[in-house]
Amino acid sequence: MCGIVGYVGEQQALEVVLGGLRRLEYRGYDSAGVAILHGGRLQVERKAGKLSNLEKEIGEKSLPGTLGIGHTRWATHGPPTDRNAHPQVDCAGKVAVVHNGTIENFEVLVRGLEDRGHTRTSDTDTEVVAHLVEERYDGDLAATVRSICQDLEGSFVLVIAHQDEPDLVVAARRNLPLVIGLGEGENFVGSDVTAFIAHTREARAVEQDQVVEVRRSGVTVTDLEGNVVEGDSYHVDWDTAAAEKGGHEFFMLKEIEEQPAAIRETLGGRLQEDGLLHLDELSMSDQDIRDIEQVVIVGCGSAYHSGLVGKYALERWARLPVQAEMASEFRYRDPVIGRSTLVIAVSQSGETADTLEAVRHARHLRAKVLAVTNTVGSTISRESDAALYTRGGPEVAVASTKSVMTQITAMYLVGLYLAQVRGTRDPDEVRAHLADLQAVPALVQEVLDRMGPVRQLARELVDEERVLFLGRHVGYPMALEGALKLKELAYIGAEGFPAGEIKHGPIALVEQGTPVIVIAPRHALQAKLVNNVQEVRARGARTIVIATDGDESVTPYADTIIRIPDTKSLLTPLLTIVPLQVLSAEIARARGLDVDQPRNLAKSVTVE
Ligand code: M6R
Repeated sequence: MCGIVGYVGEQQALEVVLGGLRRLEYRGYDSAGVAILHGGRLQVERKAGKLSNLEKEIGEKSLPGTLGIGHTRWATHGPPTDRNAHPQVDCAGKVAVVHNGTIENFEVLVRGLEDRGHTRTSDTDTEVVAHLVEERYDGDLAATVRSICQDLEGSFVLVIAHQDEPDLVVAARRNLPLVIGLGEGENFVGSDVTAFIAHTREARAVEQDQVVEVRRSGVTVTDLEGNVVEGDSYHVDWDTAAAEKGGHEFFMLKEIEEQPAAIRETLGGRLQEDGLLHLDELSMSDQDIRDIEQVVIVGCGSAYHSGLVGKYALERWARLPVQAEMASEFRYRDPVIGRSTLVIAVSQSGETADTLEAVRHARHLRAKVLAVTNTVGSTISRESDAALYTRGGPEVAVASTKSVMTQITAMYLVGLYLAQVRGTRDPDEVRAHLADLQAVPALVQEVLDRMGPVRQLARELVDEERVLFLGRHVGYPMALEGALKLKELAYIGAEGFPAGEIKHGPIALVEQGTPVIVIAPRHALQAKLVNNVQEVRARGARTIVIATDGDESVTPYADTIIRIPDTKSLLTPLLTIVPLQVLSAEIARARGLDVDQPRNLAKSVTVE
């Protein structure tokens, strides 16, 4: 969703701000804009469409100045047009505001402003903030913003510049992420650290209802009453190279390739010399772990699919009742949880609004909440009782790839750790599972090295309008994930089903030539899956089967076979998902689509 950058320093702000916006592009957006302050005047440029449109609009115009704010907008209030792009300004053009979120009481505020003589020039909720600053500003921009925040309802990150404040950008946050970048003689704010990672790796998270004053010489954070709030900074391990495409045409392709290394990072340092696990990060005593009576895993989209794999692993190893559910539904169904429930919130960004609300609801009900997230300092990690970081590095493409891999790996670690502490698996068995897990990165690499036939398959499927995915047990979440990837990247109507369910309805979709992708690695349910493949083939399906090396049971019924190396059946999602990722990306590429930024999507969904 919207990306925000604010800068005050010695460099030309336009370059810094545009560079930050480029790195935030992955969040998804449909218009962009900047405001640069120079010589007591704010120059605002904004444009619908991609950043390149904005850059074309700026063209040869001169926008000097060392203070600037910038925005990529994912439209909510008002269509993605030039006039609705941010920054939004007040009547006199003295105030520029960029905003992520929704101001829920904006209509009431607009009516008041119009009664008092202000004229709106956009359909956005954001514009009200610019007019409110215009009305209330008395020489202290931070105090003005604090007072306005008290009247705003909803969620927001605001970054504001005023032409009478040549050394000050003011930012405020409620319910959405905002990070400060601490430099030498320059300081930043951004939606996430990628906004300023090219300039500094020292960051500080902004907490709920805090206002930040960013100046060249330093940064001051206050609460809404104006009390200064101290806070710790942290060092960001990612570097700019990690966020660049590294020779790949798309970030997604690079991120798919990075998966073996990403899994190794997730495992790194968490295995003790005795071959058992060490997960202090859970911040739970052995007794706390023994007291758990149920586990609920929440997440959205791909993170939910990772959670579903976690359910199978935790049930099998830790012998606990586990539910996995979409975070967007969780808090609306009156869940029966309490002190003896462990809620695991899975989120790459750590900012997904529905997952965050699920965390809050779970904590309100006194459950213990563990965040499984990639993003240090994210809101979900901070609001949970503990965080297990997946350490996948920056994921820029909208479609999740290495984040799913690392989330699933983290779920295995949690499952085995609970089993180890609760004694539901003996130590030798835990060691053996961990050894299998450590072998997975090399197997993923093997799968990646065999992607030629998958690319060929992508060319064959490029004109399809519907593809079905079937799987059983842990293959089922991967059927869902494969279908999600194909939908979001190639805009093909794709659906994933538990293979056992097809006769209860979905098989009616099968007609002559319908591609049906069956995830069928070697497994106890293999024979049943082979039956399912036969059933759809008998009705004309083109069967594409992901099967284990050497397994010939399905060969007679498969029109195309994609082979993966052998591993323990519970670990197969880490292998079966790879060809599905590559297939979707390659079909999207063959269709001439933007693989990294599919239409209508945002990397991090920070509104409900
Ligand atoms: O940042 P999160 O993991 O919380 O994001 C959740 C979903 O929005 C995300 O997994 C989405 O479904 C994927 N980008 C799809 O590839």
